[in-house]
Amino acid sequence: MMMKIPLARADVGPAEAQAVARVMARGRLARGPEIEAFEQEFAAWLVVDGAVAMNSGTSALIAALRALGVGPGDEVIMPALTFIATANAILNCGATPVLVDVDPHSWNLDPQALEDAVSDRTRAIVAVHLFGLAAPMNDVLSIAHDHQLVVIEDACEAIGAEYQGRRVGGLADAGVFGFYPNKVLTTGEGGMVVANAEGIISRCRAIANQGRGADGSMEAGIPGFSFRSSELAAALGRVQLRSLDERLAERTRLSERYARMLARVPALGLPPVEEQNVRSWFTFPVLLPAGTDRAMVMQQLDTAGIETADYFPVVHKIPGYCERLRIHGSLAVSTLLGERLLCLPFWSGLEEQLMDNVVVALTAALAP
Ligand SMILES: Cc1ncc(COP(=O)(O)O)c(C=O)c1O
Repeated sequence: MMMKIPLARADVGPAEAQAVARVMARGRLARGPEIEAFEQEFAAWLVVDGAVAMNSGTSALIAALRALGVGPGDEVIMPALTFIATANAILNCGATPVLVDVDPHSWNLDPQALEDAVSDRTRAIVAVHLFGLAAPMNDVLSIAHDHQLVVIEDACEAIGAEYQGRRVGGLADAGVFGFYPNKVLTTGEGGMVVANAEGIISRCRAIANQGRGADGSMEAGIPGFSFRSSELAAALGRVQLRSLDERLAERTRLSERYARMLARVPALGLPPVEEQNVRSWFTFPVLLPAGTDRAMVMQQLDTAGIETADYFPVVHKIPGYCERLRIHGSLAVSTLLGERLLCLPFWSGLEEQLMDNVVVALTAALAP
């Protein structure tokens, strides 16, 4: 039977296996030294004051929003084009997501739309670094400052990305990362909150651990969750963090090769690159030519043994969401992108032959 080319593949090997085996041999699987070391090493790598490991990026987002005081009655502004987790986290704090449009060039939050969407109920902004490209943080932070809003960076897709020479995630009140296996750093499932204020870090820690403080007391008075990471995940994450730079560089090289080859496909849009910002290549999204039947293209690629994904669908078009949101403006750009984006197979170590197969199959699927 023909092997399918998957959309993503985790880059884990003997070093990760050894680290996990070491934890198993030690026998302590939760709340131990691996988590503590992973948090410290991650914070040092990002140059932030503190980090709290969690069981997913969504948990990390919920914890960060709650730690920053977001709750019922609040509005939180976010881009309409993102993974549904961003909206789910806001909804699960009892707050209302306010969708704003994205910029047609960067596919990230449009600062003018953001500014226009601020109301007297707005409490926070979630700035998503979509597909690993930094959101316009100078504008976001300046709007937040003018209106006294808190800012959370959703850097779940953007580990290692840089905004004007600084790594994303540590630029706002809090930042969150996700470690699902399609990410550049994986722990299987997992996430991390980072912040530069001790109060936010300790509140996140309490929220992730049933409201308990560092000494185990319930004095924080926070009804928390069970969002903790595990020693096995942390051991894996520590090894992945040490080899992160190599994977980032490899993904950049592969993305450049994809871009060179796909530039020959008429009317196909390539993922934006910005001179002043370093993208972290989480996946390889392309923008199909106007009028293309995306489902048909996906079907043809699937028949050729190639897995693709139609993300991200724009949030307000997902069944059941429209009535839970406030929509600002027409969201025309997000809607168009949501209908035409296609993510191609991409991982560190993607073999050139497989990449060539993808390019040939996509070219054939788009041929008139
Ligand atoms: C933009 C964005 N936010 C949040 C998340 C949530 O991460 P997780 O799947 O680990 O809960 C993801 C994960 O893919 C994401 O892409």
